[in-house]
Amino acid sequence: MKLEFPKDFLWGSATASYQVEGAVHQDGKGITSWDEYYHMPNREYNGDISTDHYNRFKEDIKLMKQINQKTYRFSVSWARILPNGKGEINKKGLQFYDDLVEELLENNIEPNLTLYHWDMPQTLMETGGWLNRENISHFENYAKILFSHFRGRVKLWSTINEPASEVIEGYIQGTHPPLRKNYSEALQVAHHFNLAHAKVVKLFKEMNMEGKIGIALNPLPIHPASDKEEDKVAAEKAYAFHSDWYIAPIMAGKYPEKMFKECQRKYKSPRIQPGDMELLRDAKVDYLGINYYMRKVVAHNPDSTGNIDDTFKYVRVKDGNYTDWGWEIYPEGLYELLSKIQDDYGEIDFYITENGMGFYDKEQENGEIIDNDRLDYIKQHIIQVHRCLKDGISVKGYYVWSAIDLLSWTSGFEKRYGLIKVDFKTLERSIKKSGVWYAKFIADNFMECN
Ligand code: BG6
Repeated sequence: MKLEFPKDFLWGSATASYQVEGAVHQDGKGITSWDEYYHMPNREYNGDISTDHYNRFKEDIKLMKQINQKTYRFSVSWARILPNGKGEINKKGLQFYDDLVEELLENNIEPNLTLYHWDMPQTLMETGGWLNRENISHFENYAKILFSHFRGRVKLWSTINEPASEVIEGYIQGTHPPLRKNYSEALQVAHHFNLAHAKVVKLFKEMNMEGKIGIALNPLPIHPASDKEEDKVAAEKAYAFHSDWYIAPIMAGKYPEKMFKECQRKYKSPRIQPGDMELLRDAKVDYLGINYYMRKVVAHNPDSTGNIDDTFKYVRVKDGNYTDWGWEIYPEGLYELLSKIQDDYGEIDFYITENGMGFYDKEQENGEIIDNDRLDYIKQHIIQVHRCLKDGISVKGYYVWSAIDLLSWTSGFEKRYGLIKVDFKTLERSIKKSGVWYAKFIADNFMECN
């Protein structure tokens, strides 16, 4: 069967500033929460150099061009533009993104810019980060600088990458900065993320910016482990916790009702001020970005302490296809998720802002990477994108995570994601088999499959 895609479909790949740029002290950049985190005692790796994309972006864009990419999603490091998160602009930092955007445009690669992918200026983190409501106006001010500067050149914007990850890993599990374990704080941070996002969407419209603005969320499709009522309830709770808590405020300016009541009862959080919900309701996005990696299967947890995230427990599926990091490969989940969001909230344009899988890449004797697993992963997910299109779900673009090997937040340089290999000793780059396949697929814009 021949699966054809619309002519204007945007195929691309993505990265994030801290994970690829390196050059952490170059040209006046301020310290970020992740610089701080990786320089705590006993950390085995850090992003000080990473792929050195900051100094090698031209070479990287050349390779993206060879892969026939139509778009590249990257994030701006707030602390390169405003080393303390506010105050004076660091011209050299802005110049870097200027050069990057110009290089992309010259190569006919559409820039897709994310304003915040987790690297918070440390000065702001020290005054409370996203827990401090004042951070919202600092973010707005930072966004305004970028909007004015890139007006007419960058047409695809995303406010925040995966608020859920920072909320859950940074404020509940305590594994990402700022290493907190506090439900009440976590819920407040989620609310501040939503307000910051909404303010910036509003600003985008007020400034009559050309193009589209959205957000990149990472909702998970959740399945109950069995047909038992208690497992079904567990799955509903898990979906509200991981997914709908972040989708509902963006799509409908509200919080899922049951979970909201439970959070108020248990944690008296989030605290909502007059006007907040109106702001969320008025901030209509032009698209919804979805970062999709895996599904979760959950069962009722009889040993729950009663917290919102442990009334359910994760279950490993017999015969499921898992990576070495325990992430389940489940391409159908992408279709299920998009259909559910459309059923719940109506039609919207989607971009798959991240999709990919971390593997241990094994080099051939000549250094080549024959990454059949990654190639197959990407292919299977693209087939699901086609299924969405066929069923009237509007997907406009797809970004492989990641453009190039980079630092995995909690698994370092062992877990590889790139279409482009990086030899981290020499920083030499080469295109993997998956990248060669993707190049041909993009050029054809169709796929033959059985
Ligand atoms: C996404 C993030 O959640 O997952 C990326 O947006 C991240 O930044 C990717 O790299 C994979 O996760 P990890 O932990 O393997 O880096």
